[in-house]
Amino acid sequence: MSYPYQIKSADEYKAAYKKSVDNPEEFWAEIAENFLWRKKWDKVLEWNFKEPKIEWFKNAKLNITENCIDRHLKEHGDEPAIIWEPNNPEERTRTVTYKRLHKRVCQFAQVLKNNGVKKGDRVCIYMGMVPELAYAVLGCARIGAIHSVIFGGFSAQSIADRLEDAKAEYIVTCDGAYRGGKDIPLKSIIDDALIGNKTVKKVIVYTRTRTAVSMLKGRDIWWEDEMDFAETQLEKNGSIDFPAEEMDAEDPLFILYTSGSTGKPKGVVHTIAGYMVWTTYTFVNVFQYQPGQVYFCTADIGWITGHSYIVYGPLCAGATSMMFEGVPTWPDAGRFWDITDKYKVNILYTAPTAIRSLMSYGTAPLQNKDLSSLKVLGTVGEPINEEAWHWYDENIGKKKCPIVDTWWQTETAGILISNLAGVTPAKPTFATLPLPGVQPALMDEKGNELEGNNVSGNLCIKFPWPGILRTTYGDHERCKQTYFSSYENYYFTGDGCLRDAEGNYRITGRVDDVLNVSGHRIGTAEVENAINMHAGVVESAVVGFPHDIKGQGIYAYVIFNGKHGDEEQRRQDILQTVSRIIGPIAKPDKIQFVNGLPKTRSGKIMRRILRKIAEGEMQNLGDTTTLLDPGVVEEIKSGKL
Ligand code: WTA
Repeated sequence: MSYPYQIKSADEYKAAYKKSVDNPEEFWAEIAENFLWRKKWDKVLEWNFKEPKIEWFKNAKLNITENCIDRHLKEHGDEPAIIWEPNNPEERTRTVTYKRLHKRVCQFAQVLKNNGVKKGDRVCIYMGMVPELAYAVLGCARIGAIHSVIFGGFSAQSIADRLEDAKAEYIVTCDGAYRGGKDIPLKSIIDDALIGNKTVKKVIVYTRTRTAVSMLKGRDIWWEDEMDFAETQLEKNGSIDFPAEEMDAEDPLFILYTSGSTGKPKGVVHTIAGYMVWTTYTFVNVFQYQPGQVYFCTADIGWITGHSYIVYGPLCAGATSMMFEGVPTWPDAGRFWDITDKYKVNILYTAPTAIRSLMSYGTAPLQNKDLSSLKVLGTVGEPINEEAWHWYDENIGKKKCPIVDTWWQTETAGILISNLAGVTPAKPTFATLPLPGVQPALMDEKGNELEGNNVSGNLCIKFPWPGILRTTYGDHERCKQTYFSSYENYYFTGDGCLRDAEGNYRITGRVDDVLNVSGHRIGTAEVENAINMHAGVVESAVVGFPHDIKGQGIYAYVIFNGKHGDEEQRRQDILQTVSRIIGPIAKPDKIQFVNGLPKTRSGKIMRRILRKIAEGEMQNLGDTTTLLDPGVVEEIKSGKL
């Protein structure tokens, strides 16, 4: 593989950026030439942000798996596509070459076909981090089914909501998943999620933990049996190839649910061609990937980072992508460094929360670990604080590896603002400059765009890039309201941001009611709804507070009138309820019982005050005279945890 579109110098970056703004269609057409198309586009881009309607590579035909797999087979078929490191370091690792990946994906596509899956059907995937998860995702893409991966930390109730919203008819899962010292009974959670479900026809179960599972006749089938049968079928045809379905550029590739400021999570929809071009282009440029390098992204495929930068981007670029089943601190806090040493990892992409957590163990876990293979480091998911940045730079990169601070979102498919490793300069805590094709804008309170440097405001993007979301599944109006209505003709990110004297961007965090807990997006309204489901709860208000490791923690103020248990037991009951309704990832760190919440006369909760108290700011709470009962503020202050 070579990457003619890989930017090699700061000047090349400037030239590429300028061209992407002056002549976007020509710019992207040239890049798109480096992919495999069944038929080329009639028009590179058609768009308006009003509806919104965005079409990239109009009328082009392709299959993304031919780009991820088939086109590498001839020259690079025996090279590793995926290297898998199991949770337990004693267990055997697996290396999946491009040839092997092709075979497995074809088999799984055949399995889907055998079970009635057709182009456009929704397949929900709820698995641990095993290579079979990648086969499942790519198998869907090969047959043209729309995958929707759900992170293993979500509860049965969350899965049930997503299954219903996506009207999913098929599920792929595992008996269980290993994560550190825990076994998560995935199939059993799926069984709970399916109580009352009317759409799901088949559940395919891969054996990982050999946990006892119930297998319902007619509905539940074993992955292994199905794969064996598919293999025999394909062999009988004299070829292991399962012909890839011809897809339109704008056919949906997947749905991924993400939290917003209101109500339940929404299904972000990405379409095939734009997503493919964007994730590959950004992967190759931001990380400056060189053929043969070992690239390790520590994310889970249940989140967008795993979709774009473990599976699609790296595989389209013919890279070697590591997949790690476990967690950074098990069996000890040296796990990432063991993996780096063992596989001679060249590029490491992780989250600030992981860095902060490992930092808290000091440098002992780094002793005798050879990290000299590392060339590039990356972070994603939340703002990185200065201390963590320097720790990463000094102890992991030994001051020799550029760090890319990559800002992006589920909705953007791939990285929008980041330095390019070793090509454009890094600046600690700054994501720095936009990628070619990305036109950021900072807005003031009145909705005007702020010109010039040294300004801060709400971050918007004013021109489409190939990876922009196209809709929210089943509810286009919601997409329009959430992202395209705050500022006319702009995509609104929900983030606050400043631009320094040199034009570098620094993301300051969400400006809406969305929390970022350990890099996971969680809506405060979602957590409140879950807490309010508990029988003893009258009302609740949830805000974020600064947390040393998680970035943000969840602080809940709860009015309780139940009779059962002491305070601690009530807290445990509430935590249990949140775990049931959303999942363990949304459990509040602190629950303070209060008699009232600060409300305006019109009944609106004044979150600003609650946020300040949770942050430990007791003095400057701002104007409290509009409160219905200013007395509650004193009570809340005195009871702060
Ligand atoms: C935040 C994850 C600061 C931001 C890829 C965004 C960041 C949200 C960074 C999206 C970064 C992501 N610096 N903040 N480098 N990267 N964020 O959808 O608030 O899970 O809106 O996508 O994470 O989270 P999501």
